[in-house]
Amino acid sequence: MPRPVLIDTDPGVDDVLAIAMLLASPEVEVIGLTTVHGNMSVDVCTRNALYFLEVASRTDIPVARGAGDPIAMPFRGGAAFVHGPDGLGDRMVDGVSTTPVGEDAADFIIRSVRARPGEVVLAPIGPLTNLAVALERDPGIAELTAEVVVMGGNAYCDGNASPAAEANILNDPEAAEIVFGADWPVVMLGLDVTDEVSLTGAHLDRIAAGTTPMHALLREASAFYQRFHEEAIPGYDGLCPHDATALAWLIDPSLFEVIERPIRVGMEGLGRGKTWPAEPYRMPEYEPWRGRPEVTIATQVDASAMADLITTRLVAFGS
Ligand code: RIB
Ligand code: CA
Repeated sequence: MPRPVLIDTDPGVDDVLAIAMLLASPEVEVIGLTTVHGNMSVDVCTRNALYFLEVASRTDIPVARGAGDPIAMPFRGGAAFVHGPDGLGDRMVDGVSTTPVGEDAADFIIRSVRARPGEVVLAPIGPLTNLAVALERDPGIAELTAEVVVMGGNAYCDGNASPAAEANILNDPEAAEIVFGADWPVVMLGLDVTDEVSLTGAHLDRIAAGTTPMHALLREASAFYQRFHEEAIPGYDGLCPHDATALAWLIDPSLFEVIERPIRVGMEGLGRGKTWPAEPYRMPEYEPWRGRPEVTIATQVDASAMADLITTRLVAFGS
């Protein structure tokens, strides 16, 4: 039986690569998209999610609009320089013919989890605001959620949105602290693994050769994101599929090596948004981590097999 997955997203070029990959994967059933501020405003991310599903001919999948601001600060302004002026490159999406459902993302999450106790996987690939709000409204969902698969954080490597922090966590550290502190099974797939994977020009050519409208969208959206990577990092070939690498956990977890550690999130100054694992041999000294649940942290990935997996699934989209 495919696992039911609810994707919480801020699309975002790598978000649409990830969602398209799961739509092409028999291991999972995507039961909804919830949107959140992050790469763009929540209005733009919601429009992009609806647009993406139209292009994918999957308007049967509901979209619930989520938080426009992080829990404790205003929206940080997004990353148009990475994802393009409309978040999907410079395609300049205008209208969409569908609308989000009437309830907000947090209520949608709560209702979905309670409808299928112990089955639903939450897969956040943007800031963790909606999950934190859902937990605050209904703490009982923690024990009813099958797994929380997070793209975010950096355990043993640099950040990408500051020297200390990864973007999804820096965009709402207070929410991340709540989500990593709740008593539910969390897998953190952050920059330790996602930064290791690239879809090279050769991979992207294979995807771009696809003939569906979705392949055209991926081709055009990826071009902007690829240009960002190749200009920012001398010698880089292609782009980094952060969100698809993380969600591939739901297809083939054997591609990762993991450890278990409790995590605290930096709240202050230079370390704001850093995800800090506690090493077991130091635990007795480190009171702030005591009593926190263990998070499964991905530390290594088979980068070549991962790029092949993502590419193969995206090439097969619609077939
Ligand atoms: O740091 C990578 C993450 O930040 C991805 O989810 C990407 O979409 C951006 O939001
Ligand atoms: Ca994202």
